[in-house]
Amino acid sequence: MTVPNSGSLVFFGATGDLAYKQIFPSLQGLIQQEGFNVPIIGVSLDGSLEKLKARAEESLKSHGILDPEAFQKLAGLLRAVQGDYNDPGTYEKLRRELGDTERPLHYLAIPPTMFATVVEGLVNAGCATGARVVLEKPFGRDLSSAQELNRILHEHFPEKSIYRIDHYLGKEPVQNILYFRFANPIFEPIWNRDHVRSIQITMAEEFGVKGRGKFYEEAGAIRDVLQNHMLQLLASLTMDPHRGEDHESLRDEKGRLFKAITPLKPGDVVRGQFTGYLSEPGVSHDSTIETFVAVKLSIDNWRWAGVPIFIRCGKKLPLTSTEVMVEFKRPPRETFGEIVPITSSHMRIRISPDITISLGLRVKKPGGRMAGQDVELTFIRQDAEDTPPYQRLLGDAMRGSAELFAREDGIEAQWRVVDSVLDNVTPLYTYAPGTWGPEEAYQLIGRHGPWLNPRPPENRKCV
Ligand code: BG6
Repeated sequence: MTVPNSGSLVFFGATGDLAYKQIFPSLQGLIQQEGFNVPIIGVSLDGSLEKLKARAEESLKSHGILDPEAFQKLAGLLRAVQGDYNDPGTYEKLRRELGDTERPLHYLAIPPTMFATVVEGLVNAGCATGARVVLEKPFGRDLSSAQELNRILHEHFPEKSIYRIDHYLGKEPVQNILYFRFANPIFEPIWNRDHVRSIQITMAEEFGVKGRGKFYEEAGAIRDVLQNHMLQLLASLTMDPHRGEDHESLRDEKGRLFKAITPLKPGDVVRGQFTGYLSEPGVSHDSTIETFVAVKLSIDNWRWAGVPIFIRCGKKLPLTSTEVMVEFKRPPRETFGEIVPITSSHMRIRISPDITISLGLRVKKPGGRMAGQDVELTFIRQDAEDTPPYQRLLGDAMRGSAELFAREDGIEAQWRVVDSVLDNVTPLYTYAPGTWGPEEAYQLIGRHGPWLNPRPPENRKCV
């Protein structure tokens, strides 16, 4: 079924960070590649039209992607509405600017504490009729606040008009996990508890909080990336095939998977904070926010019962990379009498910085003995040509395609997984920058380990 495109894009927070880092580059990309050609209305407290044009130009220059022709088109489509989000007059101005455009897309690139105010302002001024709304992560702070936010949104918007962004879903390699699994039937018979020994996901970042201390103090690793990006990745890796032809079926299957994840208990979680975090700008001197988290999860369904799943994410780790390791069981006995590392058979799926899929196998070493070595059969691709995630997602929302956005049931199920380990219910350990987190993370994985660290790109070879 084709859904009509939005007739205009309204973005709140037009002079903010997200607009600068993601929205302006995405808009230029949409103009270049998809002939995007509808009014773009930036709403902010202090952004005149001239200021927004200058911000857009500066943003594109800072990304090294300024295309003078596309930028001219972007500047020509840009409109500005200035005003306080608490002032009904701001939405009256927006109403006039929208004119008779149909299905405006309202992108709330603003702090979540302002979501409800802006939604009410839009509704009262008649800007919400037939409209779509895009919301940035974090969607709520826990299960009950997410439910409350959903309730407020549903008073005015049907679920099909709500687009909750998790930019991991817009990433090519994340979509490729589903494609790769379901387009190659040879994997299906082994993708389950009979053949998989364990699953590990590591999201490592070499950098710290990059001056976002104030934001991070409200989040911490569990809310910032585990509840959303990491669980989405896990769902793509472990869900059952969807029917394909219908947009909702993918989100139905994902929802089923999220609901099958056993909620975390304190003993399944190790939280860490890197030494030096407390001196970051915007961070409280006695903060107990975690910059690292490692968890042990399980999925309570037939496919995955009994398979331990470990996820860790952290800042100030030795390198920047996100990698999935699916570890396969060894044969019931080693036919050639060798002592083989338990990690020999695996599938490595690397999401960043490059896109890699490797199959870890044993091959015989040349010579008289039946003795082998570990090799990886590897597919590598650089991501330079990929559509950036925000551009992909913004384009999809404009077209009314919701498949790559989080749905109400899914997001609530994701919060249910982490809800009882939020805030300070588990101890906080410190770790030195440049290490793989606190010692306790090694104890968590125990006999299911070792943790398999993503390798620096230069150490990986195609075999
Ligand atoms: C964001 C988090 O959602 O994702 C950041 O707020 C994190 O803390 C970022 O660094 C990672 O995204 P990517 O695309 O760089 O892996």
